[in-house]
Amino acid sequence: MEIVSRVADVRRLVREARLAGKTVGLVPTMGCLHEGHLTLMRTARAAHGLVVASIFVNPLQFCPGEDYAVYPRDLDRDAGLAAGAGVDVLFAPPVAEMYPQGFDNVLTCVEVKGITERLCGESRPGHFRGVAMVVTKLFNIVAPDVAYFGQKDAQQAVVIRRLAADLNMNVRIATVPIVREDDGLALSSRNMFLNPAERRAASVLSRALGLAAASLKAGRRDAAAIRAAMGDLVVGEPLAACEYVAVCDPATLRELDRVEGPALVALAVRIGKTRLIDNLLWEGEV
Ligand code: PAJ
Repeated sequence: MEIVSRVADVRRLVREARLAGKTVGLVPTMGCLHEGHLTLMRTARAAHGLVVASIFVNPLQFCPGEDYAVYPRDLDRDAGLAAGAGVDVLFAPPVAEMYPQGFDNVLTCVEVKGITERLCGESRPGHFRGVAMVVTKLFNIVAPDVAYFGQKDAQQAVVIRRLAADLNMNVRIATVPIVREDDGLALSSRNMFLNPAERRAASVLSRALGLAAASLKAGRRDAAAIRAAMGDLVVGEPLAACEYVAVCDPATLRELDRVEGPALVALAVRIGKTRLIDNLLWEGEV
């Protein structure tokens, strides 16, 4: 595996791979790699001659007061894990390489409207603008055939699909299922901020989703009732503060009245200072 920090070096390696007839898969990450990220990398490895992964803690997608400064960074550890998952090129640029004019002096804006204002967008204004910007830059730098994203960040995947479609980006967006701990907690780089009591409390997200899945399987279709039952379960956990519970259309992210077809059931919960998200994609009755 090659570790590169310059845009020009990634472009050279991609060009060489293309000349050798290889297809290119890209896995964008912010590092602090865990089994969720590694699953994306292995999925890309199985499909492409060249696998590029990026590690970049993107300052533009953190809101004021969020955890940009303390976001865990350990390139040596991440490089070992990425190599083990079959990555060929690890692109880990410094901020100045991605934003040479300064990240607070970017004049161009890539904004996906509407769907970015709901769910996580309500409490994280500007977050998806930052994600859209950095993902657009990564697509332009790497020019992958396929880019891999986790279903864990369901809204992010919806936003990026729409971004790629609206701007005719020549890339296919693939999503990979959520990887979980034994108790159901979705793996996240932020789980390491949880103390032992918070870690136990954090299973409330997947328990709430389990409740929703059971209701839907039992034929209950009233979205408000499902949201309320999930909200009650979260409120019953003393260390948890519920930010939102959504039972929404998986494409528009608009709240549903009744679940008559596919639905995205999603929630964001603060456990102490740590904000966690999780979701379940209900495919509808088969
Ligand atoms: P990050 O949080 O590091 O996540 C990188 C990718 O890993 C995302 O596509 C995310 O959905 C996926 N992922 C995280 N946890 C997962 C899990 N438990 N199971 C499956 N996939 C999981 O998301 C970002 O970084 C950034 O916003 C980024 C897209 C890199 C842009 O900066």
